[in-house]
This record gives sequence, structure tokens and C-alpha cells, in this order.
Amino acid sequence: MRLRRLPLKGALPAAQQSRIRGGRLVLNRKEFAMYTQAMDQQPKEERERKPVRSVEEVELERRFDAKIDAGDFIEAKDWMPEHYRKTLLRQISQHAHSEIVGMLPEGNWITRAPTLKRKAILLAKVQDEGGHGLYLYAAAETLGTSRDQMIDALHAGKAKYSSIFNYPTLSWADIGTIGWLVDGAAIMNQVPICRCSYAPYARAMIRICREESFHQRQGFDSLLVMMRDGTPEQRAMVQDAVNRWWWPCLMMFGPPDDQSPNSAQGMRWGIKRVSNDTLRQKFVDATAEQAKVLGVTLPDPLLKWNPEREHHDFGPIDWAEFWRVVGGDGPCNRERLAARVKAWDDGAWVRDAALAHARKQVTKQEAA
Ligand code: ACO
Repeated sequence: MRLRRLPLKGALPAAQQSRIRGGRLVLNRKEFAMYTQAMDQQPKEERERKPVRSVEEVELERRFDAKIDAGDFIEAKDWMPEHYRKTLLRQISQHAHSEIVGMLPEGNWITRAPTLKRKAILLAKVQDEGGHGLYLYAAAETLGTSRDQMIDALHAGKAKYSSIFNYPTLSWADIGTIGWLVDGAAIMNQVPICRCSYAPYARAMIRICREESFHQRQGFDSLLVMMRDGTPEQRAMVQDAVNRWWWPCLMMFGPPDDQSPNSAQGMRWGIKRVSNDTLRQKFVDATAEQAKVLGVTLPDPLLKWNPEREHHDFGPIDWAEFWRVVGGDGPCNRERLAARVKAWDDGAWVRDAALAHARKQVTKQEAA
């Protein structure tokens, strides 16, 4: 039988330390007594404040790290460090809120779509975004926080959602541009999350990415029709929309890597697979070529292919604007939050009716 020593250092000679035998913890009483005695000697307040990790926890964390290193998935029922759970909850709930708030700028245009075909496409797309939010809330719930708690945090202004949805949709061309650029940026960021170490999130992302690809295509197609067959005014409308959405889309990927407080740990745990700056660069490289096909100009005089780097160089991003929007002071932050809260309040009767129906079903089943 293979014995493995636990990483308790300096307490006792190696031969007398606690061990894992056949996957079970075998404690050496003397060592454990020394360990707990040391805890007892701490002042009471300190003992209450600092959670001391048990030998079991240390071993569980070691196994967790080994799984991450081996590229294995973590399932909801698996042990995980509290910080991993919180990091995932933060990211998945923000992502879910983004999908739900993201329905608003496009939803504004459903009644104003220019043709029946475009209206049907937009309706389907906005419904898809609602579905993405629900998959993601469900994935986040597996981490022990209810959807109601997450939604309360959003409505109280305590939870973030993507900065991009705080910009207004001023013309029909904004709808095509959201599909092409916003959903294009979203896919770039989300395809690597299909390999996220947390399996329920990764599974949700596979389906979401398939639908996002359709969203990006329909946006590009809508713009292409206007650029190819449209009037000069329609072409100008497309160019104006691209001018307004380009820079906020580059901000969607988050702050530069050296100013991103969560990146190092997120990458270490395989929650993030590719860094903010790398994804941003990939997005610029892909869209610069697509812009040529469309016949629009990206609003950056410094955008240029760099043959040495084999990437496009691009101009500086206004990070002050990004932080302003993230901090709640973007063009539409207040409007978006107010619309979400109103939709929640207006939908109260639906939730009440669904609960009443569910209760009746249970009573019927119990009586049968
Ligand atoms: N909008 C709002 N907040 C942002 C944005 C953004 N575009 N980018 C970064 N932030 C926030 C982060 O959430 C973090 O704040 P927090 O610590 O209070 O949570 C802070 O800025 C610093 O950023 P990072 O350290 O880089 O944060 P992180 O490592 O979580 O990376 C990122 C941010 C890239 C957005 C990551 O969370 C992610 O990949 N999320 C999943 C994808 C997603 O949410 N997409 C939503 C938009 S796409 C759509 O819905 C169609």
C-alpha cells in the first residue's frame, strides 16, 4: 500500500507524521495534539477570526490542485477551495446578468425592425440571450447561491454586468453592429470558457457559443446588405454605428493584463484560459479583415498590420471611460437597471402563479 506524507512541516520527525493510507487520513494523535494545542494558545479573538485549515482540508486542496494541473474538470459535488467557488460565482453571475441586461438595447428595436424577416431574427436572438442568462444562473446556483440572491444583488447595484450594455442603440444599424462586434467579441471571449475547469459552466458555454455564432452571422449579414445594396444614408448609418461601438467593444475584454486583479488566479485555476489582452488582440485581427469585406472603416487611425508582430497594432483605449461605465456612470446605466427592476416587479404575478400551480400539483400528487 502506497503511503503519502501530508504537507505538515516541522511538527514531528517524518516517521511520526500523519499520513494518507489507501485514500484515508491516518492521524498521529501526538502530532494532532501539538497542532491543536498551538491553536489553543492563540488569543481567543484571533482563534475566532482566522479559520485554521484542517489536515483534511490541506489534503483536499492538494488533490484539487492536482486535478486542475491535470486539466480535469471540477463538478458541483467535488470539494473546492472557497476562493475558487467565490471567483466562479462572481464571474458566472456577472456573465448571467450581462446576458439578461443585454436583452434591453436590442429589445428596444423589435417593434421597429424594418422587415418581417429581420423582426423574426431579432426576436429569436433576444430570446436566446434570455436563455443564456438562465443556463448561466443555473450553473451559478450549483455553487450554492440562489438565483434570487444573484438577482437581488444586480437590482441593488452590487453586482456587475458587461460595460457594453450601458451604451444606447440609436439606429437600426446599431442592431447589426451589436451582432457583428458585440457578439463577435463575446464569442472570442467565451469559446475558451467552454474549456473552463468548472464543468457546469463549461457545459453551459458550449450551447451558448453555438447560438452566439448565429448572432454574430446575422449581424454581419444585416450590415452587409445595407452596405452592398443600401442607400448612401444607410451606408452612413452603418459607419456611424461602427464608429460608436468599436472602442466600447475593445473594452469588453476587461482591463489590460497588468491591471487585471483577477487574471492571475483565474488563469491558474483554469477559469480563464486566455488573457484579456490576448483575446482583445485576436478580436482586432479578425474584425479588421471583416471590416474590409463590409466596406466600413474602423475608427482608429493607428490601426495597422504589423508584419513583425504578425498582428494589428491599434490605438490607446480610454480606460477612464471604461472604469466610469463599470462604476455606474455610463450613458445608460441607470436606465438599464431601472428597466430590469421594473421587469422583475411587473413579472411578480407570473412567478406567484407558477408557484401556486406547483403547490397545487404537489397537493394533487400527495392526495393520489
Ligand atoms: N464590464 C464590466 N466589468 C468588467 C468588464 C466589463 N467589460 N471587464 C472587467 N470587468 C470588471 C471585472 O468583473 C472585475 O471586477 P470585480 O473584481 O468586481 O468582479 C474588474 O473589472 C477587473 O477585471 P479583471 O480582473 O480582468 O476580471 P476578470 O478576470 O473576471 O475578467 C472578464 C473579466 C474577461 C469579463 C471575465 O470575467 C469573463 O471572461 N467573463 C465571462 C464573459 C462575460 O461575462 N461576458 C459578458 C459579456 S458578453 C455577452 O453577454 C453577450
